Amino acid sequence: MPERVEAIVAEMTLEEKAAMTTGAGMWHTAAVERLGVGRVKMTDGPNGARGLTSDTGASLTPSVCIPSGSALGATWDPEIVGLASGTVARQAKQKSANVLLAPTVNLHRHPLWGRNFEAFSEDPFLTGKLAVGYVRGVQENGVIATVKHFVCNEVEHERRTSSSEVDERTLRELYLLPFEFAVREGGAGAVMSSYNRLNGRHVADDRRLLDEILRGEWGFGGFVMSDWWALVSTLEAAEAGLDVEMPGPGKGFGPALAEAVREGLASESLLDQKVRRMLTTFDHFGLLRDGYEDVEVPVDAGEDRAVARRAATEAIVCLRNEGHTLPLDRGRLRSVALLGRGAEKLAIMGGGSAQVVPHYELRLADVLGARLAGGARLSVDRGDDIARAASLARDADAAVVVVGTDEKEESEGFDRTTMALPCKQAKLVEAVMAANQRTVVVVNTGAAVELPFARAVPALLQCWFGGQELANALADVLLGEAEPGGRLPFSIPERIEHTPAFGGFPGESSSVRYGEGQLVGYRWYEARHLPVLFPFGHGLSYSSFSIGPVRVSARELAPGGKLTVEVEVENTGPRPGSEVVQVYVAPPGGGQLQPGGRMRPLKALKGFAKVRLGPGESTVAGIELTERSFAYYDIADADWFGLQERLGDAGSTSHQALHRERAGWYLDAGTYEIQVGRSSADICERVQVEVTGSSQPLPLSTPPG
Ligand code: BGC
Repeated sequence: MPERVEAIVAEMTLEEKAAMTTGAGMWHTAAVERLGVGRVKMTDGPNGARGLTSDTGASLTPSVCIPSGSALGATWDPEIVGLASGTVARQAKQKSANVLLAPTVNLHRHPLWGRNFEAFSEDPFLTGKLAVGYVRGVQENGVIATVKHFVCNEVEHERRTSSSEVDERTLRELYLLPFEFAVREGGAGAVMSSYNRLNGRHVADDRRLLDEILRGEWGFGGFVMSDWWALVSTLEAAEAGLDVEMPGPGKGFGPALAEAVREGLASESLLDQKVRRMLTTFDHFGLLRDGYEDVEVPVDAGEDRAVARRAATEAIVCLRNEGHTLPLDRGRLRSVALLGRGAEKLAIMGGGSAQVVPHYELRLADVLGARLAGGARLSVDRGDDIARAASLARDADAAVVVVGTDEKEESEGFDRTTMALPCKQAKLVEAVMAANQRTVVVVNTGAAVELPFARAVPALLQCWFGGQELANALADVLLGEAEPGGRLPFSIPERIEHTPAFGGFPGESSSVRYGEGQLVGYRWYEARHLPVLFPFGHGLSYSSFSIGPVRVSARELAPGGKLTVEVEVENTGPRPGSEVVQVYVAPPGGGQLQPGGRMRPLKALKGFAKVRLGPGESTVAGIELTERSFAYYDIADADWFGLQERLGDAGSTSHQALHRERAGWYLDAGTYEIQVGRSSADICERVQVEVTGSSQPLPLSTPPG
C-alpha cells in the first residue's frame, strides 16, 4: 500500500473513517478535505455516462449512448467492446465522474429478466471475455470500472429480498466466472454487491463471497460497494468485507459503524481496512487530489459517434437471408415501405439506471430516406392500421418492418411477462410479408422475443438497443455499406416452455431456485435435445466463409499446460465480411450421466475469434486453451471418507476415485473433443486431445478459462 495512503489513514479520526464508508449523497464518496482527500463521483453505466440525476432519476446532461449490453454481447469482440466502453469513460470524466457503475455481467438465465438488455450473454465465458474488454476500455481512460451485480442477480421481481438458490458448482462454473474474469484478467477496481440474497444471505453480508473468494482466491485489491439502498446490516456486512454503503447518508455504515466501534462491537482496524482499500484504488487512478469541482460539460465528439456506430453495426445479427434479399440493392429500388414502431422511433436503450439522454437521436426514416438513390420513394408508417401498412408494402419494391420493445417494456425494476412481441406487431409482420415478397424484418429488442414468422420471412435482422447511432448502423447494414457483424449471444428458443428456467422464474416465496444448474442456454437445449429457433452463436455474413482445417499445437495437455487451436478461415464469397470462429470443449464420453460419473454439459464455449477478411482472403485464427478450459469445479465431499471407514466392509471402496476431500478446479483424465464452428449447432471441425488428469486441484493462481 502506498505510504501516502498509510499516512492519511493514520491521521484520520474515527468519524472521518466512518464517513468514508458511506456515500456523500447519491453519487459521491465522502471527502476528508483537511487531508487532501477529495470527493470521488460515480455514475451509471453501462451504455453511457448518466451523471447527476433529477429526483425522477433522469440524467441532467447528455451523453454519448453506446449499444446496450446484449448488443455488445453480440459483437463477440472484446476490442470493440473496449473501444465503446472507452467512450463511456471519457463521457464520465466530462461529467467529473471517475467511477463508472458498469459493466453488468449477470447472465441471461431466462429471456424475461427485465435487465437482460444490460447484460452480455447466456454464456459465462463470452460474458467474462467481453467484461475484460469493457473493464480495460474504461480503466485505460483513467476511470474505475465497477463490475456488477455480484452475484446471481438475474430477476427483477422482488429483487431486494429474493434469494437465488444456487448450488456451489453452478455458482463457480457459471455465475462467478464473469466476475472472476473481470477482476483477475481485467483488473476491475470496484465491485458492486447485488440486491438479492444468495442461498439465503445478502451478498453484502457474505464473508465467503467477499472475503474468501473475491479477495482471497482472486486477489481482488479494489473496493466493494453496495447496490443502491441494498444494505440491511451493519456488523455483518462490515465483517464480510463490504467497504462502502451507497448512497449516503448510510443506514448500516457511516455513523452506525462509528458507533459500533465506540461500543466495542467492531474494531477500528476494520474501518482502516475499508478506507485503505478505497484510498489505494483512488491513488492508483490519480484521484487523491484537492480542488475537485463537480461540473458536467459533455462533449459530442465525432470520434465517439464513430465508435458508437461501428459497435452498433458489429452487433447487428443477420438471422436469415433467403435468396440474398439483403443487402438491398440501392440502384434498383424505386420505392421502399418502412413500417412498424421503429419507423417512427427506434428503441436505442432499455429502461432504469442505464438510461441516458443521448446527444441526439436519429430517425431511421430520415437516415434511410437521405441515403436511397435519387428519386426513390420512401413511405413510412407505424403500422397501427395493419391493412394500411400492408397496402404501402404492396406498392413498394421492398418492405422493411421494424418491430420490437422499448424502455418501458424492457427495464430495470420489473421483468417482462411474455416473450411475445407487444401489441399486434407479429400480425403486422405477417400482413406485410403476404403483401411483399421482399420483406426485411428488423427486431429492435434487448432480449429474445418470439418470432413466429422467422421461418417464412425472407430476411431477418436483430438490431438490439443499438445506441444513438442505431439508425445509421441499420442503414449501413440494410444498404450493404457494412456487414451485419453480430452473432447471437444467447439461444432463441422455439417457445418459452422450452427454456431452462421455465417454472423457476421469477420464483416464489422469496426464492428463485436455479434448478437447471449448469444447463443454462445452449447447454440445456443440447442436453434435452430441444430444437431452438436460432442457436447460440448464430449469425450470417453477407459473404461466405470456410472454416478449417484445424490444427492444435499439442495433442496432449497436462496440468500446467496450454495449447493453441489454429483455425484456417477463408472468405469464399464476393464481399468483405467477418466470421466468428467459436471453439467449444466437449468432455470425455459426451459428458453426461456416466454411471457414477460427473454431469458435464455436452460442450462449453472456451474460445472465439472474430476475423475480418476481404473476398478470397484467408487467415489462421489462433485460439488458446488452458487448463481451466477443460476443468470443472468439484465441491468435494470430505465426509464420504469417514463414512466409508465407519461402514467398514459394508462400504464400497470402488468409488474412491470419484470422491475428493478438497474442493477446487480439477482436471479429469480422458479424451476431450475440441469442436470448432460458427454456432453451438454448426460445428465444422473436431479434434481430439488427451488430457492428463491430476488428483490435486489446480493451483489458485491458475488463470480463469
Ligand atoms: C442498480 C444499479 C445502479 C444503481 C445506481 C441500482 O438500482 O441496480 O445497477 O448502478 O442503482 O443507479
